[in-house]
Amino acid sequence: MTVNPTLLRELPADLHRDRLPRHVAVIMDGNGRWAKQRGLPRIMGHRRGVDTLKDILRCCKDWGIQALTAYAFSTENWGRPTEEVDFLMTLFERVLRQELREMMEEDVQIRFVGNLNALPKSLQLEIERSMQQTQQNRGIQFTVATNYGGRQEILQACRAIATKVQQGLLQPEEIDEALFEHHLYTAGGDLDLMIRTSGEMRISNFLLWQVAYAELYVTDTLWPDFNRTEFHRALSTFQQRDRRFGKL
Ligand code: IPE
Ligand code: IPE
Ligand code: MG
Repeated sequence: MTVNPTLLRELPADLHRDRLPRHVAVIMDGNGRWAKQRGLPRIMGHRRGVDTLKDILRCCKDWGIQALTAYAFSTENWGRPTEEVDFLMTLFERVLRQELREMMEEDVQIRFVGNLNALPKSLQLEIERSMQQTQQNRGIQFTVATNYGGRQEILQACRAIATKVQQGLLQPEEIDEALFEHHLYTAGGDLDLMIRTSGEMRISNFLLWQVAYAELYVTDTLWPDFNRTEFHRALSTFQQRDRRFGKL
């Protein structure tokens, strides 16, 4: 099935609006391989990946999905060559600066999750500015995981909770799922669908707590080639799944 992506402005007729995932997360993998296949430097793949992300965000909004979380940089990605890491940090900063106006027009509320303090100062400032300016927007909640690690997220929650217990503000018996979630970066909001591009069958330290009962969808398509047609396929598959949540 090939559908011209430009024709998919509205929710495809075969998808049920009332059974759309509320919160979708994407592991945007395969930028490097996309570039390599074309004999281009890896950074060209990252550049094209930004275009994909912009269109998938707009698509989520067009089709009525309330929240999109994108994995932009993992805590492990610091292990890449300095030139690539530097390029990515500069790219994030530039894109943020360029896209802020449009995010305002499109009513996008952007948030960043991860250990943001370790990012370059100039990027931290853009992050701060974009979060502040878009705070009141309600069109779609767009979360970018940058210097994010699922284990680190859980650890920092444990630390915050332990401190409260130590200070006598909290009893160990009061620690339940709701309280724990409240201490995660991604306060509130269950994840419904996690998509990974480029065929890798792993989570790579993304949203470890939140993924508990999310549906997983893996496509061989590389992230720069992912488009509305592919997203449509992911949502159709999601709607065919029987989410039992451990029940019968
Ligand atoms: C994902 O693409 C983007 C980031 C991790 C920043 P990759 O850069 O991992 O691309 P591959 O997996 O090497 O093809
Ligand atoms: C996951 O992709 C991180 C992002 C997409 C930002 P990686 O390419 O870093 O993951 P691995 O190394 O294949 O597990
Ligand atoms: Mg990769």
